Amino acid sequence: MPVAARIEEVRTQVAELAQVSPSAHVFMHKMVKLLHERMLKYNWVGFYMLELGAQPPMLVLGAFEGAMTPHTRIPLNQGICGAAASSGRTVIVDDVSKDPRYLACSLETKSEIVVPVFVHGKVVGELDIDSHFPAAFTPEDQDIIQYCAMLVGKKLEKSGE
Ligand code: SME
Repeated sequence: MPVAARIEEVRTQVAELAQVSPSAHVFMHKMVKLLHERMLKYNWVGFYMLELGAQPPMLVLGAFEGAMTPHTRIPLNQGICGAAASSGRTVIVDDVSKDPRYLACSLETKSEIVVPVFVHGKVVGELDIDSHFPAAFTPEDQDIIQYCAMLVGKKLEKSGE
């Protein structure tokens, strides 16, 4: 299946998951599984969520698919993850070996994308995806991953979780 068709299929499937999932928590678990299974270059897919009331603010590993990571808690001033959450912007790194911010999760990882999740305009967490392929995240990937993160934000807003 061509990548564009696969992305469209996944877009429809995640929208359906958002509808049928009883909670944002369930939705996030099902979403990471779907993205990991269907998007062949997405070798690690997971959420980091901001811990409520933590001082200093901390990102905590949530639902994920792929190998266990040593980074279960990431301060906002560390890593690609910290950069995305603190700036509220998508960060794409085509070659992680060249980015001094990068915190290694797996030696095989070559590129990474991190997309913030917003609830009522505030960053509450992020969707992080690692690939074993350099520059794996095209504008089409960025678009579908931002769509996924947006759906999680909307689901969290609805459910008040
Ligand atoms: N690479 C991330 C850390 C998380 S692992 O990729 C799962 C970072 O630099 O923040």
